[in-house]
Amino acid sequence: MRKNIVAGNWKMNTTLQQGVELALEVKNLLTEKPNCEIVLGVPFVHLASVVDAVKGSSISVSAENCADKESGAYTGEVSAAMVRSTGAQYVILGHSERRAYYSETNDILKEKVLLALKNDLKPIFCIGEVKAEREAGTQNEVVKTQLEKSVFNLSSEDFGKIVLAYEPVWAIGTGLTATPEQAQQMHAYIRGLIAEKYGKAVAENTSILYGGSCNAQNAASLFANADVDGGLIGGASLKAADFKAIIDAR
Ligand code: PGA
Repeated sequence: MRKNIVAGNWKMNTTLQQGVELALEVKNLLTEKPNCEIVLGVPFVHLASVVDAVKGSSISVSAENCADKESGAYTGEVSAAMVRSTGAQYVILGHSERRAYYSETNDILKEKVLLALKNDLKPIFCIGEVKAEREAGTQNEVVKTQLEKSVFNLSSEDFGKIVLAYEPVWAIGTGLTATPEQAQQMHAYIRGLIAEKYGKAVAENTSILYGGSCNAQNAASLFANADVDGGLIGGASLKAADFKAIIDAR
């Protein structure tokens, strides 16, 4: 059976010290075994320290990006192998902020996914439409293209290692959450595409997270949907108590 996952995406927030403090707060709030996997997506420079801080807990750590090249003369870049060597197990790829502000195309993301898998990192691969696409009713085609161009090239064994996150761009950081019905519709559509490509068993085993203004108040109604297997949480993951409330909603 597929995993339920609640993942935080800290984005470009917290100094190293604040980040370690936040990770420890989350760890200390988890007094009982949670009923989902918990992942903290943190800035590169925090990775090794946060891995250390959450040792002995059920929390996994994720990077928020990795390079599309293996190694070499790429000043300032961080490779998948470097991320893995910190003890991190996941990497968020294809986030709409990376696509929009750093020109990450479907082709670049395809390379990143391959390098992540080659280096034993599990990609949390983000897909989703912008507001104009939703208004034009083209959200399904947009998401289908993103999948076809960046991850449907994978073998079914490799595809089985990835987690998907449906993040409607109009809902990210806007306070404008998708309704539970909109989320369920899209998640079911995505699972159907996976079933067509890889078969029903792979589709049933793929965790599909929802992201976009998911918070302590609306998490339970989003997670109650059959095809919503958890969340990718931005703003609300920066406060340990809010993040814990979302974990409890799963
Ligand atoms: P948000 O961000 O929860 O702040 O909307 C979600 C994300 O970007 O992953």
